[in-house]
Amino acid sequence: MKYQAVIFDLDGVICFTDQYHYMAWKMIADELGIYFDEKINNRLRGVSRMESLEIILERYDKVLSQEEKLALAEKKNKIYVELLGEMNKEDLPGEVKETLDRLRAEGIQLAIGSSSKNAKFILERLGLDHYFDAVSDGTNISKSKPDPEVFLKAAEFLHKNPRECLVVEDAKAGIMAARAGGFDSAGLGEAAICGEATYGMDSFGDLLKIVNENQSGM
Ligand code: BG6
Ligand code: MG
Repeated sequence: MKYQAVIFDLDGVICFTDQYHYMAWKMIADELGIYFDEKINNRLRGVSRMESLEIILERYDKVLSQEEKLALAEKKNKIYVELLGEMNKEDLPGEVKETLDRLRAEGIQLAIGSSSKNAKFILERLGLDHYFDAVSDGTNISKSKPDPEVFLKAAEFLHKNPRECLVVEDAKAGIMAARAGGFDSAGLGEAAICGEATYGMDSFGDLLKIVNENQSGM
């Protein structure tokens, strides 16, 4: 069996929290009078909260102190967490849950590899707390994607080496992180067409085909 485990990014792969990230950052940007749109928001996918703020501040003409930046990031997170509070089990797409259950039934280990410090709260909202075999997130890393740390930690938690794991991502930064760590990757959305993923997917369910084709070939 080529892939014994699948490591999933969370935001934009398992659930669509990316829209809440956008809404929260948009409120901060509007308050500061900074131009911010969905295209700029795409650059925030996979990168940490503070790095996201730095990208938004590229269009700001004033210089902020580290304290001011931390206060802005904290304010954004408060808005974001409030939006997350509205989420429930129904925000977990049926296709995602069915695919996860099928992979699990086939004996594949499942893990999360997310830059978010809110990952465990999101999993709880979705009814997925205790579902994954391992959760590696923003609370156990010091370097964000495209650094491979979050995926290497997930593999370590699973006691697997990177060649045995497949990474699923919606962000180019995440695909680059997988590559840097020696993982094969399956991309969704922008990550599917960035030319760097091992496999491109049209939808989450395509994962079953990828995993099964690689099982029979080994
Ligand atoms: C990633 C998102 O999953 O988590 C990024 O794609 C986000 O957009 C990052 O900046 C950090 O999230 P959080 O929840 O710790 O602010
Ligand atoms: Mg993502």
